[in-house]
Amino acid sequence: MPCPTRSNELVFFVNGRKVIERNADPEVTLLTFLRKNLRLTGTKYACGRGGRGACTVMVSGHDPVSKKIRLRHFSVTACLVPICFLYGAAVTTVEGVGSIQTRIHPVQERIAKSHGTQCGFCTPGMVMSMYTLLRNHLEPSEEQLMEALGGNLCRCTGYRPIVASGRTFCMESNGCQQKGTGKCCLDQGENDSSPLDRKREMCTELFAKEEFQPLDSTQELIFPPELLRMAENPEKCTLTFHGERVTWISPATLKDLLELKVKHPEAPLILGNTSLGPAMKSNEHFHPVLLSPVRISELCVVSRTSDGLTIDAGCSLAQVKDILGEMVSKLPEEKTQTYRALLKHLKSLGGQQIRNMASLGGHVISRHYYSDLNPILAVSNATLNLVSEAEGMRQIPLNEHFLAGLASADLKPEEILESVHIPHSHKWEFVSAFRQAECWQNALPDVNAGMKVLFEEGTDTIADLNLAYGGVGAATVSAHQSCQQLRGRRWNELMLDEACRLLLEEVSLPGSAPGGRVEFKRILVVSFFFKFYLEVLQELKKLLKLFPVPDTDSRHYPEIPDRFLSALEDFPITIPQGLQTYQSVDSHQPLQDPVGRPIMHLSGLKHATGEAIFCDDIPVVDKELVMALVTSTRAHAKIISIDASEALELPGVVDVITAKDIPGTNGAEDDKLLAVDEVLCVGQLVCAVVAETEVQVKQAIKKVKITYEDLEPVIFSIEDAIKHNSFLCPEKKLEQGNIEEAFEKVDQIVEGEVHVGGQEHFYMETQRVLVIPKTEDKELDIYVSIQDPAHVQKTVSCTLSIPINRITCHIKRVGGGFGGKLGRPAVFGAIAAVGAVKTGRPIRLVLDREDDMLITGGRHPLFGKYKVGFMNSGRIKALDIECYINGGCTLDDSELVTEFLILKLENAYKIRNLRFRGRACMTNLPSNTAFRGFGFPQGALVTESCITAVAAKCGLPPEKIREQNMYKTVDKTIYKQAFSPETLVRCWNECLDKSSFHSRRRQVEEFNKKNYWKKKGIAVIPMKFSVGFAATSYHQAAALIHIYTDGSVLVTHGGNELGQGIHTKMLQVASHELKIPMSYMHICETSTATVPNTVATAASIGSDVNGKAVQNACQILLKRLEPIMKQNPEGTWEDWIEAAFEQRISLSATGYFSRGYKAFMDWEKKGEGDPFPYYVYGAACSEVEIDCLTGAHKKIRTDIVMDACYSLNPAIDIGQIEGAFIQGMGLYTTEELKYSPEGVLYSRGPGEYKIPTITDIPEEFNVSLLPSSQTPLTIYSSKGLGESGMFLGSSVFFGIADAVASARRERDAAVDFTVRSPATPEWVRMACADRFTEMIPRDDRKTFKPWAIPIA
Ligand SMILES: Cc1cc2nc3c(=O)[nH]c(=O)nc-3n(C[C@H](O)[C@H](O)[C@H](O)COP(=O)(O)OP(=O)(O)OC[C@H]3O[C@@H](n4cnc5c(N)ncnc54)[C@H](O)[C@@H]3O)c2cc1C
Ligand code: FES
Repeated sequence: MPCPTRSNELVFFVNGRKVIERNADPEVTLLTFLRKNLRLTGTKYACGRGGRGACTVMVSGHDPVSKKIRLRHFSVTACLVPICFLYGAAVTTVEGVGSIQTRIHPVQERIAKSHGTQCGFCTPGMVMSMYTLLRNHLEPSEEQLMEALGGNLCRCTGYRPIVASGRTFCMESNGCQQKGTGKCCLDQGENDSSPLDRKREMCTELFAKEEFQPLDSTQELIFPPELLRMAENPEKCTLTFHGERVTWISPATLKDLLELKVKHPEAPLILGNTSLGPAMKSNEHFHPVLLSPVRISELCVVSRTSDGLTIDAGCSLAQVKDILGEMVSKLPEEKTQTYRALLKHLKSLGGQQIRNMASLGGHVISRHYYSDLNPILAVSNATLNLVSEAEGMRQIPLNEHFLAGLASADLKPEEILESVHIPHSHKWEFVSAFRQAECWQNALPDVNAGMKVLFEEGTDTIADLNLAYGGVGAATVSAHQSCQQLRGRRWNELMLDEACRLLLEEVSLPGSAPGGRVEFKRILVVSFFFKFYLEVLQELKKLLKLFPVPDTDSRHYPEIPDRFLSALEDFPITIPQGLQTYQSVDSHQPLQDPVGRPIMHLSGLKHATGEAIFCDDIPVVDKELVMALVTSTRAHAKIISIDASEALELPGVVDVITAKDIPGTNGAEDDKLLAVDEVLCVGQLVCAVVAETEVQVKQAIKKVKITYEDLEPVIFSIEDAIKHNSFLCPEKKLEQGNIEEAFEKVDQIVEGEVHVGGQEHFYMETQRVLVIPKTEDKELDIYVSIQDPAHVQKTVSCTLSIPINRITCHIKRVGGGFGGKLGRPAVFGAIAAVGAVKTGRPIRLVLDREDDMLITGGRHPLFGKYKVGFMNSGRIKALDIECYINGGCTLDDSELVTEFLILKLENAYKIRNLRFRGRACMTNLPSNTAFRGFGFPQGALVTESCITAVAAKCGLPPEKIREQNMYKTVDKTIYKQAFSPETLVRCWNECLDKSSFHSRRRQVEEFNKKNYWKKKGIAVIPMKFSVGFAATSYHQAAALIHIYTDGSVLVTHGGNELGQGIHTKMLQVASHELKIPMSYMHICETSTATVPNTVATAASIGSDVNGKAVQNACQILLKRLEPIMKQNPEGTWEDWIEAAFEQRISLSATGYFSRGYKAFMDWEKKGEGDPFPYYVYGAACSEVEIDCLTGAHKKIRTDIVMDACYSLNPAIDIGQIEGAFIQGMGLYTTEELKYSPEGVLYSRGPGEYKIPTITDIPEEFNVSLLPSSQTPLTIYSSKGLGESGMFLGSSVFFGIADAVASARRERDAAVDFTVRSPATPEWVRMACADRFTEMIPRDDRKTFKPWAIPIA
């Protein structure tokens, strides 16, 4: 087994083509290789840590677990797969699945046509997960579908349409899920015309399933015969791949591996790389030699023995799951308790891709403190079979000593783990597993546990007890002493109390414990044990009934009250169902006229095939350099020096750009592009390094040495900012009526506080820019992912001190923006431009997920105080709200956000005496910025919390208070803008009706009476959302339309395609106006060279104003063509265009929406104005169920009724509503930013920051567009819906609060508790006060330094 000094050839296949790498570098991942070497850019970078699924590809190879040559297709995240792992494997990427150039695969067709793509950045990954599922199961079950998609995140769609597309392949699927229920439009028996084209009636189908091509497995790529031959005659010798820094050694036999382990005792074994990979990426570890057992089939064997199961360390967790499933189906229940417990956690551990890659051995040996499997294996007396060359086999127990890493209980350096033996469970033995995480899937657990109890036969006396917890220490913790003391005790309430006391003593967590949430974790420790207690009690009773033991009577066991039984049930994973209802177009509308029809996103198919080009997919240009940013590590400090000398000496490093290199203006005085003397937050940009390659630049930024001198004060929280009088702008205030007088006349007054956390945009495509300097006239081409190209142009112009006309910005499409790509990309564009000009070479700057989250800021956290005066009837007479937002260290959009917040605070309510005040706090955090809804989602939560508090005081349901105080007739807002709330009232009533609210409210109450540990809650929330900017000049827009001599039309307009379907809508407008099919039209890109001086695509108004501009351009062109058309009325479009050209008629026109929508606001004098062109109304009802013991919740049903007026494209509009709703739901339930006491953002990736996953969407999710009766002045009377749905996500929050209030009422706890968003499991559990919350030790906050600090 000599280890060759020269590299072997690495042979694998990608999309049927052979790849031979002669110098394979073990540090190169498959993602980099695909994108950079093979130019297959369909596979996207989104986080680099396997947490998002955008880089999913399929790997096929010989399944070593099966004895015969059997193929295994499995999905993996390419960012974690080193290319060296792929020897002899076949990789299929989205490009290999299908292409619009050749043949689109049914998976790709269906996801696009079901409207499952918006920005499209996640789509290739979704396609690959679904495709892999279909390669393994031609007709999968819906459960398998959910499992396959669990590891893929989408920030735009809200998942519903993606599930809908996948469901068309499932065996259960029979088209519309409501078919036959009388709710489906197809049930009305009108088969003569398409459901989309009938008279103007309500329609519930957004796509026609009948059009889909069938799935034909014979069309799939075959496994390359050459690889099959390689699998049949495997290479016997060790393969070695030498990279620049790392050597990869892959032996073919166990014997060789053991020899190598002697030679390289420090070298880790690399299996799934899901543990090693992320650690190496964050540079915690560097390993010059890696030993890969991937080719050793001896490490993938499963042996079933009479006393248990021995699973080899090389088996993947997905394989372990299959094996355990098989055991559970074959063996008697009493033997499979441990296997069931493991299976339970294997379903939620990571996503499918992680389970496919991660190995059992890697999992066990990694001994992560959060490991889901180790606690179960530890309590079940699992043993580890170790092997080494010198000592052969030996066994060690997988116990607390091993898990704590004690040298005496650990592997020796030359040993490896061969297999894990998991014994069967026995009669009178019970094993269970518990886990609580932020989300059900794809989230690391806060706390988990494995529990096992063995009884003396036929009794309830504990013979043996084992409890192990994860998440509560640096390693899995075994409650060894507690268990010992409980042995011999009977399984009853006394034992329970004693156990809780002992556990809290033994499994103790200091207040400053890493990860925070300390009190919550303490509660979970005892809550899980309580669940176990109940479970076992129930099982004991069953067992005694089945196997009566003389002299024992199950009646002696404590009774479980019926009201406690639901504590035993976990929330099941269900497949979301729902209806999307909209008004179909008029039956007289010509078929080719697309306006009002659910037209697929223009780029839908390209998204699905990976052919849609995003900024970083642009091929490397000649002499291109890579830039990376150096950021401040201090929250407030003076910069003493910047020493880049070491960085500059590294190979490949070309330059370091500091503020001194900026030829023009370095940003604003109080918002510098690059820091000069002082830094104001961790994450502030200090300088940038430019190098030849990504690897070089990443190494170089670490070598830039910055010395600081800390400055005072350092302010992070709103509370501290108020104390220090630290504000970014003057207070904004609106007032009406006489608030003081009104407070004197009311029956009751309530005061309260509301804390709303911030939110990360978490767009799939991180910030990125490519700047190409031209040799002539200082021109620059900038390719950038942005919502506001004119802003980039202006910023670059000021920074370089060159005129705007030399700079052209190009935007093809943006992988999600949500407000996060309004201002910031200009900063990155400007710094990259300085680098490009200084070096004279093109510069590419692509932010890592961690840097993106650290640097860019997000939604403003808010702290609100309210005082509300009301009559006992619930009528609110006076409301005084004071809001503070955490603006971070610079102004950015904080003043505007404060204004919008105040303007929108009244939401849907008419309250005569009002006072709203708002201030933006200056803190030492990265500057917060625009985010979908612009202050409204935070502010209106304060208003709705007031309503809930009033309801609690009046003893009335909140919906009664809402209804009573809602605008009902034509009226004026607090800023004196007149409006009619007729549609608001219609939305509200229709939502109550469609959701059967009142009867469900009664059912919820009934449920709550019968259940103590599970509670349901229901809430219905009305919404008045103002669209647009509060300034007329922001409502102008332009378009440029060219008609070419072949009749084809090129449309350009000022809006950017962010996924919201603006380009699709613009072509619908153009097609309608020019009366030609959309197939004649094309949009190439948004460019500052074609449409100058554009306004940001934001504030829900983009399609509206740009639509008007496109309409105007089309009308100008049609007017010019009219005489020709009249002369030849029978002519075709092509004839007319040809004739127009002959007659020298210009076939190019600029359209302008010059009048704009009038909007103004006078803050200075009266606080009056007409700031908004129009309002969107809506209402949402959500029902949830909470688990009072863990704080988890399940969304049972959501009904949304939204007023789109005459929707331009119902599929896109419903997609916007659903996507915004789910994003709002994330804001209010799971998305939590965590900052260290030093102001460092901890939550910088999908591992720590939880956006909703596919399993988080409501079980039933209905959206209906209100049939319209009004005709606002918008384009074709359709309203902009980009943002409004966000706030409706709060219906889930108030549903949870309703359930919590019910629990608190029952436990005689106060119901006017402080509102905190997000309503995380931690908040819910802590709010559900009970005997366990009373038991836990509470920390005096003054006595320790917490791990994280609150900033809202
Ligand atoms: C996105 C993501 C989500 C995750 N979610 C969860 C979750 O919800 N719950 C959870 O518990 N875990 C989770 N994990 C962690 C995951 O379970 C582990 O990373 C994984 O099981 C490690 O296995 P691996 O094969 O990838 O190990 P590798 O990274 O390949 O190796 C890890 C370590 O194990 C050693 N090793 C491997 N095999 C052997 C052997 N046979 N003998 C001796 N040493 C060996 C290696 O030397 C190395 O030090 C997640 C990971 C990721 C990336
Ligand atoms: S469409 Fe899924 S992230 Fe944009």
